Amino acid sequence: MENSSALLLGRSGSLLQFVTILLLMLCVVDVKSQLSVDFYASTCPKLAQIVRKEVVNAVKAEMRMAASLLRLHFHDCFVNGCDGSLLLDGTDGEKFARPNLNSARGFEVVDSIKRAVESQCSGVVSCADILALAARDSTLLSGGPSWKVPLGRRDGLVANQTGAGDLPGPFDNLTLIIAKFAAVGLDSLVDVVSLSGSHTIGQASCATFSNRLTNFSGTGAPDPTLESSMLSDLQSLCPANVNGNPTTALDRGSTDLFDTHYFQNLVNNKGLLSSDQILFTGSEAATAAARSLVQIYSVNPGRFFFDFANSMVRMGNIGPLTGSNGEIRRNCRVINS
Ligand code: HEM
Repeated sequence: MENSSALLLGRSGSLLQFVTILLLMLCVVDVKSQLSVDFYASTCPKLAQIVRKEVVNAVKAEMRMAASLLRLHFHDCFVNGCDGSLLLDGTDGEKFARPNLNSARGFEVVDSIKRAVESQCSGVVSCADILALAARDSTLLSGGPSWKVPLGRRDGLVANQTGAGDLPGPFDNLTLIIAKFAAVGLDSLVDVVSLSGSHTIGQASCATFSNRLTNFSGTGAPDPTLESSMLSDLQSLCPANVNGNPTTALDRGSTDLFDTHYFQNLVNNKGLLSSDQILFTGSEAATAAARSLVQIYSVNPGRFFFDFANSMVRMGNIGPLTGSNGEIRRNCRVINS
């Protein structure tokens, strides 16, 4: 009797486990399939064209805007999932978190895109989806790959300033960066290295790399992994008492072009941020694997573009709100009243 009840318990235990695993698998499959590339086919059939036109105008006016829009999607997705929470105004918003303050830009462009979309399809398209489309268009307009953007995200109702403070940072080591990616479900090194390749476009301010210029990690000397002519350039750009917030190109070889030059820089000790260069140089557990990806991408644009596009889709799949969760914001800066 004891045996049979133990057996029964054992069986029901494993049945329970089986059902739980099945449910979890369904959830995973469901999350992936919640977004679809034709989500707005009937409700906003011209969406892609509307967004493209606005991004083209913005990038024509300022080439760097492509980089800024791409980064907004990243900073949105890594905090509470891709839910447009980064766009919310207010002193408790993500815009005031350290990685975004005086750094994240392009919010006015997102407003223009949203206005253009609302004028043709009112109350239908989320701000989170606009960010995903704008990131794709920005990449393409800079000479990078294109991909089909899964859509159907809804907008979040809350910002998460603390979460935004914990975005991957320029002083993080590789182990920590990998952990931060894994924490949002991007558990492949390919995601870390290929998405870091976004730094083939855009700018960074002195504050994000001046730690490398004079007293690296308290050594009293510059970062030895920074190439000497670039070091002196950066030292004159960012003296200790620098005024304002000077910036320089993340990829000083082909600043506005989405290409493999970023990876060639790393091979030549010309990565701008410490978090860039450590993908190639260092002695952490994952360095060898990262280094080998950097080497591959540096000579193989096709492989970089392919991996980048896939990783962007994976990043765009982080924790989307769907169904009746969240809302479709009318104005990306505030939740609907
Ligand atoms: C791997 C960890 C990452 C770190 C530590 C990091 C850090 C940074 C920093 C410090 C800047 C300069 C900000 C400033 O000075 O205002 C920057 C710029 C940028 N980041 Fe990253 N980033 C990372 C990953 C990514 C990813 C995954 C993407 C996109 C998918 C991305 C896209 C960009 C772009 C395009 C810029 C230039 C933005 C502009 O010019 O406005 N970054 N990043």
